[in-house]
Amino acid sequence: MQTKVILSVWFSFLIMLFAASCVKEGPQGPPGANGTDGIDGVDGVDGADGAEKCSACHSAGTDLFAKQVQFSNSIHRIGGNFERNAPSCAICHTHEGFLERLETGADATAATIEDPTPINCRTCHMIHETYDITDYDLRVTGPVDLINGGTVDFGKANMCINCHQSRPYQIPDMANDSTAITSSRWGTHHGPQSSLVFGLGGFEIAGSLEYVNSPHKDLITDGCVSCHMADAFGDSGGGHTFNMKYESHGDEVPNIVACTACHAGAEDFNINGAQDEIEALLEELEELLLAEGVLNPNSGLWNTGTYRTEVAGAALNYIFIEEDRSLGVHNYEYAKALLTNSIESLKN
Ligand code: HEC
Ligand code: HEC
Ligand code: HEC
Ligand code: HEC
Ligand code: HEC
Ligand code: HEC
Repeated sequence: MQTKVILSVWFSFLIMLFAASCVKEGPQGPPGANGTDGIDGVDGVDGADGAEKCSACHSAGTDLFAKQVQFSNSIHRIGGNFERNAPSCAICHTHEGFLERLETGADATAATIEDPTPINCRTCHMIHETYDITDYDLRVTGPVDLINGGTVDFGKANMCINCHQSRPYQIPDMANDSTAITSSRWGTHHGPQSSLVFGLGGFEIAGSLEYVNSPHKDLITDGCVSCHMADAFGDSGGGHTFNMKYESHGDEVPNIVACTACHAGAEDFNINGAQDEIEALLEELEELLLAEGVLNPNSGLWNTGTYRTEVAGAALNYIFIEEDRSLGVHNYEYAKALLTNSIESLKN
């Protein structure tokens, strides 16, 4: 029975072989005619020449280099305070913190900025975002809402105002008889320049002078930039040094090119003796604050405690004008009124 099955399998196999050898292929026929050509694809647009794009800025010229050289002498680069990297300080003192603030609008960073870098080209300009000349556009162009209230517009100087303004503080309220000075660093922080230029944030006690502003804020379109970035003197003053004064062969030279268009013949910043006047008022007010016991003669900081509101207000005005550091150039009329009226109120 088994042999029968095996035999029939062999038989079927032989038949299949035989059948296969019968269907042989004939010779190949002639090739058919070629098909019609397909439609051409659309040419791609040539990419921009990489090197050409870069050389808008990185070229054999010294334009970029000059700015780098000037900036290497700016306090922004060499002041050393970029290590102030805690959330409430980093927004103005570090490059990373400032960019975070522009994005979030918050008055502090989410966390301490580790490994911070100082203010640099990329802080104010877009650098390496589109890789063409528009990378030199400023990061801030529109009006700025100040931390202590008020919106100001100073042209290209809006770039500066974000940082050069007072930190949060309370102006003493005249309705109260007394005011507490709660910290030795009470009042405005370093760098309240924008607030002073616009006549904002002083303790406006009544007195013999009215609170008006000097015409600088209206006449000088690009504000801080027009004065602090006037034509550069080498790597020392003006331009990207932002310095108003510089040392030259042992002398301190004021960069008065920023002033002479309006103050013809000016030789220094002390126009009409205005700086001498503000300095003398600051000294007089300082003496009065020492006598009130609010200013500590050793530290130059405040003795904390509760004072008459006039005393606290005068203290605020003193630190505001002192920290502004221009001795009235930024806003002579307003600075003079704050100091004069404060002095009068303490003398009464
Ligand atoms: C808008 C002007 C501008 C353009 C366009 C530009 N750069 Fe730069 N580049 C800068 C500035 C500004 C710096 C920073 C200089 C400094 O920090 O002192 C810089 C820095 C650099 C550096 C040094 C490393 C660094 O990041 O600081 C390199 C490398 C560089 N650029 C390459 C390029 C290349 C490649 C291109 C083109 C694809 C290009 N750049 C296009 C302005 C430009
Ligand atoms: C990101 C914040 C920021 C911006 C934007 C900024 N500054 Fe400053 N600026 C500072 C800080 C912080 C310092 C002090 C740096 C230090 O001490 O390390 C300073 C220092 C300065 C100084 C030097 C002060 C001195 O002690 O001699 C001048 C002048 C100045 N800034 C002007 C400007 C001008 C003008 C602009 C606008 C073009 C500007 N700054 C934009 C934060 C800023
Ligand atoms: C709104 C922006 C801003 C914030 C926030 C800020 N600073 Fe400043 N700070 C400045 C500016 C602008 C200057 C430079 C002022 C000048 O040169 O007149 C400065 C200067 C300083 C200086 C140098 C003073 C000197 O006499 O050389 C110190 C120290 C300092 N800040 C500490 C701090 C600390 C600590 C914090 C956080 C608690 C802080 N700052 C927060 C803007 C700010
Ligand atoms: C604190 C802000 C700030 C920093 C930091 C800064 N710049 Fe500027 N830069 C400005 C402002 C404001 C102007 C406009 C000045 C004007 O129009 O007079 C300007 C103008 C320029 C221009 C001319 C741009 C144009 O459109 O013609 C160049 C180039 C330039 N900066 C390069 C640099 C380089 C390179 C660095 C770093 C080494 C740098 N800047 C750092 C604020 C800054
Ligand atoms: C009218 C021109 C002018 C304008 C506008 C101006 N400044 Fe000044 N600023 C000066 C002069 C001049 C001094 C120096 C006074 C001195 O040292 O005798 C000065 C001093 C300063 C200082 C102290 C350090 C230094 O360089 O002496 C800072 C910081 C400063 N200005 C920032 C600013 C900022 C920020 C703005 C814009 C809100 C601004 N300035 C607007 C002319 C100007
Ligand atoms: C766009 C014109 C303009 C520029 C630029 C300018 N000022 Fe003035 N400044 C004025 C005008 C107008 C007054 C008001 C004069 C008056 O009331 O008699 C004034 C007033 C002053 C005052 C008060 C003194 C006084 O007699 O009123 C000082 C100080 C001063 N400027 C310093 C400077 C310095 C320093 C610079 C350069 C860093 C400068 N100004 C740049 C127009 C300008």
